[in-house]
Amino acid sequence: MANEALTSNPPAAESDSRPRRAALEYLSGFGNEFATEAVTGALPVGQNAPQQVPFGLYAEQLSGTAFTTPRAHNRRTWAYRIRPSVMHKPYRQIGNGLLRSTPFNEAPTPPNQLRWSPVPIPQEPTDFVSGLITLGGNGDLAMQSGVAIHVYAANRSMEATYCYNADGEMLVVPQSGRLLVHTELGRIELSPGEIAVLPRGIKFRVELLEGSARGYVCENYGPAFRLPELGPIGANGLANARDFQTPVAGFEDLERDVRVICKFQGNLWEGEYDHSPLDVVAWHGNYAPYKYDLARFCVINAVSFDHPDPSIFTVLTSPSDTPGTANCDFAIFPPRWMVAEHTFRPPWFHRNFMSEFMGLVRGEYDAKAEGFLPGGASLHNCMSGHGPDASSYERASRVELHPQYLADTLAFMFETRFVCRPTRFALDSAELQHDYYTCWQNLKRNFPRS
Ligand SMILES: [Fe+2]
Repeated sequence: MANEALTSNPPAAESDSRPRRAALEYLSGFGNEFATEAVTGALPVGQNAPQQVPFGLYAEQLSGTAFTTPRAHNRRTWAYRIRPSVMHKPYRQIGNGLLRSTPFNEAPTPPNQLRWSPVPIPQEPTDFVSGLITLGGNGDLAMQSGVAIHVYAANRSMEATYCYNADGEMLVVPQSGRLLVHTELGRIELSPGEIAVLPRGIKFRVELLEGSARGYVCENYGPAFRLPELGPIGANGLANARDFQTPVAGFEDLERDVRVICKFQGNLWEGEYDHSPLDVVAWHGNYAPYKYDLARFCVINAVSFDHPDPSIFTVLTSPSDTPGTANCDFAIFPPRWMVAEHTFRPPWFHRNFMSEFMGLVRGEYDAKAEGFLPGGASLHNCMSGHGPDASSYERASRVELHPQYLADTLAFMFETRFVCRPTRFALDSAELQHDYYTCWQNLKRNFPRS
């Protein structure tokens, strides 16, 4: 812990006796009003913006929602920083690489089931941001609706390079390679099996803790992800608020030229700073990055018969203006007991109003015998038929049912109300499995012929 603290908070000069907190501590809870300081006494007491902030810091509010958003969903944080965010050279546009944004009209959207193999780890130097590849998306970022779905594949850390996304928050789902995400409000260590959400506008840089990293990103243009209502489930279950972790304050006191990449209105822009933008020494508020260990998800499942709708696996939801119809739900299919009797246990054949993008962190998914690989993805859009492949169907229809523990599996779904329109890259990619449809072609006719 102590060594890690020195990585982000440089060792104080010998004459500097300011006490420093060990890093990689977390604050528990979802959307709480947190208060944290990396230097004791840096956090003003009793008011947000005193005439003189301790240690000569600048007070700056970051509003993640409209000022007048109802209290339950209002998000804002007061940051006490070495320099205010306004201090930078003008941004200039740079290339978008393989990053795409609305309106996602590069190619006609096919109604076919789509599936991709994992994108390879690049050979050339590639960091988290330059390694983002957009597979598809929907909505209108200017209208703050819809999502973009990216994968990332990287082989180096962001050094002297930072990023913020004004278009949406970023839900990061690592599949391989641990990450250390340095953010304005502290640091998050992230391993496969965990997720992190980087709120709209929060600056960050991603350090790779292993040689390479791959995973998924849901860029949410709509209302911020929140915990779903639990209805008759009651006060506990699914993702519990106490298991969400927000970093304590931790800052970089670096005086050197760096660049900040900004995603703004669908394009990437680059700005020069003469200091690290991760210079928040203390903060309080409820607009902050957070992480969650998916192993903490309390699965609710059938203990009698039938396979419930996958909404029982919802971790986080971004609502839309239509009650019960999410801009995007994030659901997981984690290790769990299967005990339902007289039941076809895998996911059934299905067509859906909502559009379903799936990824796999590890193991196997119970509806597919092969082809759906960790790091890969599938997309079943509005009203496109999908379900178990022929061999999975045969087995699940005939197997003698006993309580069974699905141990080696962690799949997830970004389920959105709008059709996910694939990018040109997604449709032309060598990773697209053109034979995906064949996994259903051997489903037998069982009904007697007349
Ligand atoms: Fe489905």
